[in-house]
Amino acid sequence: MQKKLMHVGPSFTSYRIQMAGVSENTGFASPDFLDAMKYSLEGLLYVAGADDSYMPFILPGSGTVAMETVTSLIPRGSKTLLLTNGVFGDRWIPILTAHGLQMDVLSADPGHAVSMADIEEKLEGGDYQNLIMTHVETSTGVRMDIEGVSKIARKHVERIIVDGVASLGAEREDIARLGITAIISASQKALGAPPGAALIVASRSALEDINEFSYFFNLKNWITPMERYLEGKNGYLSTEPVGVILSLNRVFSDIRTTGLEARIDDHRRLSLALNEGIEAAGLKVLAERDLWSNTVTAVLSDHADEIVRRSMDLGIEFATGVHPKLLGKYFRIGHMGYVNDFDALSALSVIERAAAQSGEKVRIGEGVRRAQQVLYDLSHGR
Ligand SMILES: Cc1ncc(COP(=O)(O)O)c(C=O)c1O
Repeated sequence: MQKKLMHVGPSFTSYRIQMAGVSENTGFASPDFLDAMKYSLEGLLYVAGADDSYMPFILPGSGTVAMETVTSLIPRGSKTLLLTNGVFGDRWIPILTAHGLQMDVLSADPGHAVSMADIEEKLEGGDYQNLIMTHVETSTGVRMDIEGVSKIARKHVERIIVDGVASLGAEREDIARLGITAIISASQKALGAPPGAALIVASRSALEDINEFSYFFNLKNWITPMERYLEGKNGYLSTEPVGVILSLNRVFSDIRTTGLEARIDDHRRLSLALNEGIEAAGLKVLAERDLWSNTVTAVLSDHADEIVRRSMDLGIEFATGVHPKLLGKYFRIGHMGYVNDFDALSALSVIERAAAQSGEKVRIGEGVRRAQQVLYDLSHGR
């Protein structure tokens, strides 16, 4: 049986994308790699909605590498307002603390998002120069309204940093239009490439004021290498994950062919079908409906871990819950990367069966039926 990976990262990719990363003896100065790197850097700007005033970075690493590196944009002595809707929002706390940066934190309960009123009040009452938010909080499936937050934040802070690890490529980022300073991501999430590359898009003007606390995690040291890669030349600073970038190059080529809007719409459709399907089956979605994200659906169940175990035997790997307040009480469906309508329908049919076998009260077949209807209606413009 072929296994489907509907985890929240590494996520569903395709054989074609994986094979693109397997090529004979490609070094970091090989023309094939340099072409792929240039194209991927340009693709990164495209999916972020950036213009010429932004600079793309692809580093060896992961989402956390991107988080720690983008932190070098935050000047010492400045203060950050951190908005966190879960585990990955909370991850900024030890990172900023390790670099001696000051912050205040606004947090939301699992399934909720920090409210606009609280953000506005905090920004008005404090002296903040930076704001950090997570677009899609992977631990709960909650999508933050980045447009709304950016609009408020622009009036008060100089820098807005967005964690787009679970969103870039499947949600609208529009960083130039929204005045966002930097967005970070990773190859293995919404983009659907294998793990190994940390991705950052940062405003060129923000790069003039870098906090030099580190060597590798210092964006300043990566500017010249990336400028060179953008010219199609070797920009070595540290060995890039060659195979991952060959795969990423193919992902960006697919996105250019499909069009970013169409790709985002596809993820929105799949998300609606999965979320409504889960509810029709009699299970409960953790996130409030208006916060449902395009890439992660968190499902409440007292049998969550057993459902994940049984689903694995049925051929689909989902993710267990990681929010400390709800451990063992929910699981997560990743609908990132290369997932399609029929993967979503399979996911619901596996969940219904695994949930029933685990003793959960589910309406067998109802989730699949609802999702099929949503997908059919939305594909036929009704
Ligand atoms: C929103 C978000 N930010 C950051 C990270 C950390 O990324 P990584 O595990 O690639 O270091 C994750 C990982 O799941 C994430 O979902």
